Amino acid sequence: MDGRILVTGGAGYIGSHVVVAIAEAGYAPIILDNFSTSSHDVIPRLAALTGGAVDVIEADVRDAGALRRTFHDHPISGVIHCAGLKLVGEGEERPLAYWDVNVGGTIALAEVMGEAGVARLVFSSSATVYGQPDVLPVAESAPLKPQSVYGRTKRAAEEFLRDLARANANWRIAILRYFNPAGAHVSGRIGEAPTGRPGNLVPLLCRVAAGEIGELAIYGSDWPTEDGTGVRDYLHVQDLADGHVAALRRLASVPGATTLNLGIGRGWSVLEVVRAFERACGRRIARTFAPRRPGDVACYYADPSRAEAMLGWRAMRDLDTICADAWRWQRTGAGS
Ligand SMILES: NC(=O)c1ccc[n+]([C@@H]2O[C@H](COP(=O)([O-])OP(=O)(O)OC[C@H]3O[C@@H](n4cnc5c(N)ncnc54)[C@H](O)[C@@H]3O)[C@@H](O)[C@H]2O)c1
Repeated sequence: MDGRILVTGGAGYIGSHVVVAIAEAGYAPIILDNFSTSSHDVIPRLAALTGGAVDVIEADVRDAGALRRTFHDHPISGVIHCAGLKLVGEGEERPLAYWDVNVGGTIALAEVMGEAGVARLVFSSSATVYGQPDVLPVAESAPLKPQSVYGRTKRAAEEFLRDLARANANWRIAILRYFNPAGAHVSGRIGEAPTGRPGNLVPLLCRVAAGEIGELAIYGSDWPTEDGTGVRDYLHVQDLADGHVAALRRLASVPGATTLNLGIGRGWSVLEVVRAFERACGRRIARTFAPRRPGDVACYYADPSRAEAMLGWRAMRDLDTICADAWRWQRTGAGS
């Protein structure tokens, strides 16, 4: 054990799975979260899954004073920075909040880490920084052309972290660009719990299958893909969490900022996901076709080979597992 790992946003969808994965790997996690988009209910579930009480600091990641106290009070040796705002549509309406939390929060955190002499950082970025890709699969070297406020805040935070690492050789930073995280923990105890109507496909399928939403709207049936629906790289959230453990371990000895795609490396169409979900839940998913949404793209999936080479990491779980785990979470965990 080499000190404690601070997980900002550790009560959220991805952060909670990261907390479980790093605890299983032998690290002692501490959560810092302001619970703006998550619930306190997750904390006892995390304690049950990790087999011990989980330390939680309820604070805003932009609050440098709270961060200083946290680093002063705990022997923190690394940080996984998941706290952030992630809704593309909301970002267009609230650019100030998105820039403040996603970029300002990253700057505040890095400043206090620098003061505390903690140089190991794993950052949650997103494939949304690529925008419409010119070439598939999408490699890390692809041009960054984000189409949204949200994507531009992730690109800016990435650039800030690369500047930091260029200026000071002590930093060891992993910038992880997630493709489409989906599914839930196999236990059914933690998963994606969007407030309001879900924006992502798998949580929508859960709600439709549970009868909470009448039908699934599929945006576009005329994309240039095999069945006309959009194609994305769906990555099981536990595989994603394992990628953070690998980054924490391997990149401790790699100076500078390293940018890595985390994806499975192939795409599934919306209709393929719907069929897989129908197999998982044993029910028919009512669906309707709606016009394409502005800003959507036909198809993208990752080239994950750099992560494989540098981290020894590869996504292992398939689409059927994603759907089965998400459905288990819907029935046993979500909202209960
Ligand atoms: N879920 C995805 O599809 C996806 C894809 C790519 C990247 N990401 C990134 O991964 C990270 C985690 O996403 P998620 O899906 O778990 O979202 P989430 O909303 O479930 O979790 C985010 C967590 O951060 C906390 N938080 C937000 N603002 C905060 C602040 N100012 N101070 C402290 N805590 C704060 C929230 O309360 C929540 O617990 C985000 O940075 C997001 O941009 C997510």
